Amino acid sequence: MKITMIGAGYVGLVSGTCFADFGHSVTCVDLDQRKIDALLSGIMPIYEPGLAELVASNVASGRLSFTTDLKAGVAGADAVFIAVGTPSRRGDGHADLTYVYQATRDIASAITGPLVVVTKSTVPVGTGDEVERILRDAAPDAEVAVVSNPEFLREGAAISDFKRPDRIVIGTTDARAKLVMQDIYRPLYLNQAPLLFTERRTAELIKYAANAFLATKITFINEMADLCEAVGADVQDVARGIGLDNRIGSKFLHAGPGYGGSCFPKDTLALLKTAEDHDVPSRIIEAVVQVNDSRKRAMGRKIIQAMGGEARGKTVGLLGVTFKPNTDDMRDAPSIAIAQALQDAGANVVAYDPEGMEAAKSVMPGVTFKSDPYAVAEGADALALVTEWDAFRALDLAKIAKTMNSPVLVDLRNVYKAEEARRHGLRYTSIGRPTAD
Ligand code: UDX
Ligand code: UDX
Repeated sequence: MKITMIGAGYVGLVSGTCFADFGHSVTCVDLDQRKIDALLSGIMPIYEPGLAELVASNVASGRLSFTTDLKAGVAGADAVFIAVGTPSRRGDGHADLTYVYQATRDIASAITGPLVVVTKSTVPVGTGDEVERILRDAAPDAEVAVVSNPEFLREGAAISDFKRPDRIVIGTTDARAKLVMQDIYRPLYLNQAPLLFTERRTAELIKYAANAFLATKITFINEMADLCEAVGADVQDVARGIGLDNRIGSKFLHAGPGYGGSCFPKDTLALLKTAEDHDVPSRIIEAVVQVNDSRKRAMGRKIIQAMGGEARGKTVGLLGVTFKPNTDDMRDAPSIAIAQALQDAGANVVAYDPEGMEAAKSVMPGVTFKSDPYAVAEGADALALVTEWDAFRALDLAKIAKTMNSPVLVDLRNVYKAEEARRHGLRYTSIGRPTAD
């Protein structure tokens, strides 16, 4: 199969590279010349474990190429995937579809033969219909089918998520498009990943429903964590206790500082907008969005409380700033709201992150970045573990306690045990677990 991927961002680059690794011939097209130049010289525009090696081997085998020339990329392709960004539109939270529709128009002017156009970008219900309309208007004679094929990749685990998916959702009722999609994903369903064929609108909604449900699950356990703190229970045991019930499942029940990232925040908002537009109240998701938004800033207050209620003139160190480990992505990271809340209360904020500091500099004004976790602890009045990078799982707690001005550790990811931290001289607070002083 000859596949073209429009957009070489997180999703497009990972998906395109994995398709090439399956043996397909893939061209990744991006309008960002610098990104393409970097990729052509083997430099990855994002940090994703295993990606650089996979790109290199598929480029070497001649199955993967990069270009800014969309026309050349689309010519002769069996399928073109649209994987451009769909950020929240400024002001109203609607998904901004400008890039998707622009890519569609560009594809329309480049069609050379029968083509399947696949939206991989997360797009509101009905976008496929509009994509189809644009294509039909611009290229009335072309034999073209439009398919929705949402992605469920987690950053940091994107390659294994792509190669070992729980399911592949394909939204189309067009017989030819079904065959093309089957051929594209054949290597995966030989591994028994179920291909779920649905109507196109249903596929579009499945993506939003999945992300909204996961966001709800996280928010639920976060509220349970608050309750645990109030009643003296342990949220990790609660999560285990409910997660062992197969109907609930143990995944996505880690209490923390609130979810962030490129998907949950924007997709929950976009789903709310869709529901509103159709006059269908979506009060559960509304509550999830509000609870999660206020939680991030509340974590700043939690840190201040751990310092005795006063932040002015004090220094707080943040361990980790990305929204989750194994990525350099800062989109909607809780660290941003936490640092802001601390600065608003008069604190000086310092931070370290293994991969995210470059991206963090522009979204965390006034924060000083250090070269390692111990430099962050030195002289600090509180240290907050915000992102659970592996590099923070076995810190020398005794050394940290000694170099801090006041040995307060606020563990927002429940990485350490209270008893262990206390033994090394730290005053320890975590999320939803009994505090040891
Ligand atoms: C993706 C999906 O598109 C989004 O819907 C999903 O919810 C999350 O993941 P992502 O890959 O993270 O977005 O976006 P980004 O990293 O911003 O990459 C988009 C790429 O498309 C950029 O490299 C951009 O330069 C490129 N692009 C954008 C084009 O090539 N053409 C355009 O018209 C617009
Ligand atoms: C998510 C979805 O998992 C993926 O299927 C979709 O395609 C894109 O959005 P991603 O945003 O990369 O992926 O990361 P994910 O691992 O889902 O984490 C999202 C946020 O939730 C992070 O801020 C993470 O820290 C938080 N989280 C996750 C929790 O707080 N607790 C959990 O138990 C799980």
